[in-house]
Amino acid sequence: MRKASILALALSFFVFIVQCDRDDDDRNGSGEQKESTHASTESHNMGKDCMQCHDGSDREAPHFTVAGTVYKTGGQETAPNGYVTLYTDANGQGNMVLRLEVDGRGNFYTTRAIDWGGGLYPVAEGANGNQSMMPISITRGNCNSCHTDSGNPTNRIEI
Ligand code: HEC
Ligand code: HEC
Repeated sequence: MRKASILALALSFFVFIVQCDRDDDDRNGSGEQKESTHASTESHNMGKDCMQCHDGSDREAPHFTVAGTVYKTGGQETAPNGYVTLYTDANGQGNMVLRLEVDGRGNFYTTRAIDWGGGLYPVAEGANGNQSMMPISITRGNCNSCHTDSGNPTNRIEI
C-alpha cells in the first residue's frame, strides 16, 4: 500500500516535469510550431535576413530560431528541396542536433528551440546529395545575416 502511493507520487512528479519541458519548447511568437518542408512554397524573401522580421517582434511573423536560403554554385539560382543540418563537430561529425528540409523556394526555417551548446557546425546538402560544410561553428541561426549577396565578408550559402 505504502509502496504504491510512493510510486504514484513519483509518477505524477515525472509527468509534471515532462509538462514543464513542453511549455518551454513552445515559447515562440504564436506558440505554433513552423518548419520548412520539401516542395512547400509558403516562404518568401529569398536571400534576405529572415530574422530582421522573424525575431519575435512581429506577431504575424513566426519567431524562427534557424532560417536562411541556399543557392546553387554561383549564388544566383536558389537550390530547393535539399537539407540543412547542424552538428556538434566540424565536417558532419558528432551529434546531429537539427536536420531541416529546404523548401521549394530554397529557404529553410524552424521555430524549434535549439541547444547551441558550445557552438554548432552547419552542413548544406543539395537535392542531388552534394554537400557543403561550414568550417566554423555558430551560436545563432540567422544564416543570411552573414551569408549575403554582397560577397562581403561572406557569400551566399552555395551547394
Ligand atoms: C521584411 C520582413 C520579413 C522578412 C525579411 C522575412 N519575412 Fe517571412 N514573414 C513576414 C511577415 C510579416 C509574415 C506574416 C504575414 C505573411 O504571411 O506575409 C511572414 C510570413 C512567413 C511565412 C509564413 C508563416 C505562416 O505562419 O504561415 C514563412 C514560412 C516565412 N515568412 C519565411 C521567411 C523566410 C525563410 C525568410 C528569410 C529568407 C523571411 N520569411 C523573411 C515578414 C518577413
Ligand atoms: C556569424 C556569421 C555566420 C553565420 C551566422 C552563418 N555562417 Fe555559414 N559561413 C560563415 C563564414 C565566415 C564561412 C566561411 C567562409 C566562406 O565560405 O564564405 C561560412 C561558410 C558556410 C558554408 C560553406 C561554404 C559556403 O559558403 O557555402 C556553409 C554551407 C554555411 N556557411 C552554412 C551556414 C548555415 C546553414 C548557417 C545558419 C544555420 C550559417 N552558415 C550561418 C559565416 C556565418
